[in-house]
Amino acid sequence: MDLSGFVNRKKKSIQQQALMLKELASNPRDMGTLCPSSAALASEMAGALSRSVIKRGACVEIGAGTGPVTAALLDRGVPRERLVVIEKSPALAECLAKRFPGVDVKCRGAEEMGECLAGYPPVSAIISSLPFRSLPEDVSHAIMSEADRVLSFGGIFVQFTYALLGEMPFIPSGFRKVRSRFVLLNIPPAKVEVFLKPRRRGAVTD
Ligand SMILES: C[S@@+](CC[C@H](N)C(=O)[O-])C[C@H]1O[C@@H](n2cnc3c(N)ncnc32)[C@H](O)[C@@H]1O
Repeated sequence: MDLSGFVNRKKKSIQQQALMLKELASNPRDMGTLCPSSAALASEMAGALSRSVIKRGACVEIGAGTGPVTAALLDRGVPRERLVVIEKSPALAECLAKRFPGVDVKCRGAEEMGECLAGYPPVSAIISSLPFRSLPEDVSHAIMSEADRVLSFGGIFVQFTYALLGEMPFIPSGFRKVRSRFVLLNIPPAKVEVFLKPRRRGAVTD
């Protein structure tokens, strides 16, 4: 067993947890959680991206925190040069840029995501860890209307929530839920939902 590798990984994970707690103390509504997402949750989020979605365009991750979902997206095969990671907290954005060299990390609000995408192909997937239930309602609306604006027809929007029952609020009209799965191996347990922006409004596509 590689003891020093194990110790290093543990040390990094404790540092990331400490950073999340520090951010939570100063921005509780923006964080919406105590712990980074588990590997199981991150892999369920990334697993929503089919090969064709990955090949078709750019992927935008919003609210990346310390990066568990970013790591899962890279493992899933999203090319670094077509992944844009948007994180509002400067401390977390710095942590992400160090952890994922070559990935375009933008320290911006997701409500400005269109401004982060110059030079990228059309967006085929948006992967969100944003805590929509705790963000101010006008911010949530602004983010989802921007998501609707930048996402291509046929693209997907992936979101997790700790609210195991009930519907995800703020989803733009016309988006269709195509998958909903529980992830029990997370603190707390979560639900991952995938929404499709149909190719034509009202059309049913895969
Ligand atoms: C639930 S936490 C991150 C979860 C992340 N998957 C993890 O496991 O570390 C939500 C993240 O969204 C970020 N955030 C909140 N409001 C934002 C906004 N308007 N734009 C971009 N990021 C935002 C927070 O700073 C926080 O890092």
